[in-house]
Amino acid sequence: MKHLIDPLDLTVEEIDDLLDTARNIEANRQRYAHLCEGKKLATLFYEPSTRTRLSFEAAMLNLGGKVLGFSSADSSSAAKGESIADTIRVVSCYADICAMRHPKEGAPLVASRFSGIPVINAGDGGHQHPTQTLTDLLTIRSLKGRLTDLTIGLCGDLKFGRTVHSLIKSLARYQGIRFILISPNELRLPEYIRDEVLNANNIPFEEVEQLETVMSQLDILYMTRVQRERFFNEEDYVRLKDSYILDGEKMKSAKPDMAILHPLPRVNEIAVEVDNDPRAAYFKQAQYGVYVRMALILKLLEVEVC
Ligand code: NCD
Repeated sequence: MKHLIDPLDLTVEEIDDLLDTARNIEANRQRYAHLCEGKKLATLFYEPSTRTRLSFEAAMLNLGGKVLGFSSADSSSAAKGESIADTIRVVSCYADICAMRHPKEGAPLVASRFSGIPVINAGDGGHQHPTQTLTDLLTIRSLKGRLTDLTIGLCGDLKFGRTVHSLIKSLARYQGIRFILISPNELRLPEYIRDEVLNANNIPFEEVEQLETVMSQLDILYMTRVQRERFFNEEDYVRLKDSYILDGEKMKSAKPDMAILHPLPRVNEIAVEVDNDPRAAYFKQAQYGVYVRMALILKLLEVEVC
């Protein structure tokens, strides 16, 4: 059985296929409207979410399937001390596929070992978020027409930002990608990703603290929120939270076709005035999340698309 726990669980060809299917879904919604009739998706969310959970649910509903689940640990038997292994064994009797978000890194991997149904990692702690990456890749490919030969700036909390970790892991497999990592020193990309992904594959990257100095080089600017819930103390969060605020003034030095992405939720890191800039792609990105999750559900359930 196939699960999606880590972005590298999918080959580049599988990702390209999923993105093609997602584009097809966008153009022919009606053709896909009944493909999952009689199937159920369980959303097991032990951590808050708006987009990821609702876009998974919308994806399954758009395919004619049904959804069930919980949206916080307190409303599940986790609050009574049930293990992930037991929960997933039981959920396997109720649903055909599940998406799990958990504050502990590796929880969806553990679930996949005990599961009778495909498990999708919908974000595990500060680790990985592979379906956000599919969304990001679809957005980049749709806007730029390619996933190669791009200079990508990743800005904000690169330490705890799981979307950044998964995106780097995935994009490192495409030709001509160069990363500019923009963060305060304390929120730099974890060493294991620098070593095992970037250095190990000779991917060009530089690390800087100032967004302004690199802005004009970027094809994509991927902004992120400082991940308050992963900090050990509030003081550090308060000191770092407004390290970067993208505003109209900073956008003046960006390329005319640079695209701004953000996995959302946004806190302060993009001024509201930027929303009207044609380069702001983050709300479109949220829409793409539904199509790509529809494509993923079809693939993992092995539904024939004719
Ligand atoms: C992200 C997440 O949960 O990691 N949100 C999302 O899934 N779109 C980013 C974040 O919470 O900052």
